[in-house]
Amino acid sequence: MKVAVVGSGYVGLVAGACLADLGHEVTLVDSDKEKLNTLKAGVVPIHEKFLPELVARNSRAGRLVFSDSLPEAVGKSLVIFIAVGTPAMETGDPDLSYVEEVVSVIAKHVDHYKVVVEKSTVPVLTHEQIRKVMLLNGAPAEAFDVVSNPEFLREGTAVQDFLYPDRIVVGVSNEKSASILRDLYEPLVQGAYCRRSDAVPASAGQNGKTEFIVTSAKSAELIKHASNAFLAMKISFINAVASLCDAVGANVEEVSKGIGADHRIGRSFLRPGIGFGGSCFPKDLTAFQLVARECGVNFSLLEKVVEINHEQRNRFLRKVRGALWTLKGKRLAVLGLAFKGGTDDIRESPAIAIIKGLLEEGAQVAAFDPAAMERTQSVLGQSIVYAETPYAACHSAHALLILTDWPEFKDLDLARIRREMRHPIVIDGRNMFHPEDMANAGFHYYSMGRTTPPAASSHPRGPVTPISPGLELQELNGSTTMTAAR
Ligand code: UGA
Repeated sequence: MKVAVVGSGYVGLVAGACLADLGHEVTLVDSDKEKLNTLKAGVVPIHEKFLPELVARNSRAGRLVFSDSLPEAVGKSLVIFIAVGTPAMETGDPDLSYVEEVVSVIAKHVDHYKVVVEKSTVPVLTHEQIRKVMLLNGAPAEAFDVVSNPEFLREGTAVQDFLYPDRIVVGVSNEKSASILRDLYEPLVQGAYCRRSDAVPASAGQNGKTEFIVTSAKSAELIKHASNAFLAMKISFINAVASLCDAVGANVEEVSKGIGADHRIGRSFLRPGIGFGGSCFPKDLTAFQLVARECGVNFSLLEKVVEINHEQRNRFLRKVRGALWTLKGKRLAVLGLAFKGGTDDIRESPAIAIIKGLLEEGAQVAAFDPAAMERTQSVLGQSIVYAETPYAACHSAHALLILTDWPEFKDLDLARIRREMRHPIVIDGRNMFHPEDMANAGFHYYSMGRTTPPAASSHPRGPVTPISPGLELQELNGSTTMTAAR
């Protein structure tokens, strides 16, 4: 099938490369010529597993071409995906002007039947506006259909999420466009793709079974916002439970396992931490709240989800103060800058927000991230030190803070980390390690919703000295109090 994908951002680039890998002829359109040249040269501007390989092999096969001419791409395609950015405006509403701009160009070049697919995340009823703009710009009503086909991929696992989705949702107004989209995704729905010898492998838990769900366009638009809001709610829920665990000395991991074993609830998205970030959850939650408000619906639950999420950062900062007392002049090692592991994206990263908080209190930060250092430099500049290795970040540190769940952090040489550090204190915002293992390795280990076991005393630099001899700061009910050390 001939397909145009407009916008070579996260969603557009992944969708374009994956649709080409399914065998379609894809033209990826972007107005940014520099970006197109980079892509043509085989350089993928985002850190995403399998994407460089897919772009390379499909470009080589001629199934993926890059173009700055939207009219040309529209002319030759049956299906046109709109995957341009919808950044948040100051009001919190998404800026849909890029969508409108693209739609008005598409409308002027519709010469025979086209399916215009809304792939960018947009508020409910946007498809009606798209239809209106198409008609206003001269597209004959019978020459197009507008379909909502929301994307559910996650950064870091975007290619596998696209190729092995739980479901494909298409919001349509007639059978014709539904059937075209069914044909487009057939290799995924029928499982033919995963049987190919050269298929991108599925990740754990993905089995090639995809539910194809046909709805109205309104429902499809709501499914996208509601899915993200629900996942964000699960995270805030477990983070609030983790605070309770901290208060009573329970273990949130045990609680999370116990809750998640109920298949009605499910185990995923119940990992506590420093809160969710990224380009999707924060933005989409705000947009969804505004939609609810505009519709006169009381959905204050969403406000609480955001509030709890924000509070997680403060809670973490209190934990740092609890472990170190004052922060002024303290040297802190930070592992992780991206909003989650597996990506170089730092948009709305809780790690960056926490680092800003630490700097405000006069701490010095040496940070390491496997992929996000360059992007961080454009935001934090030289206000922090960018270490070449995790060990270099830990050199002479008063404490180590873990802020992103990069899987490779689990394989660090803990003895080496400890030797590098001035004090063996680790405050883990992502619960990457087992408290007992860390205690056995001689660390004072603080994490989210789990008790801190006493650290083993053997220390290569001599015995561990508490920061304030005889006293230990402990977080209790959100406030910092002093208690006698165990
Ligand atoms: C999210 C959704 O998961 C995707 O389904 C959706 O397509 C995407 O938004 C989007 O709308 O484009 P993404 O933001 O890439 O994907 O990443 P997630 O894996 O969902 O993580 C979001 C944030 O939640 C991260 O900061 C992560 O660290 C945090 N998180 C996630 C937790 O704190 N706990 C968890 O259990 C899971």
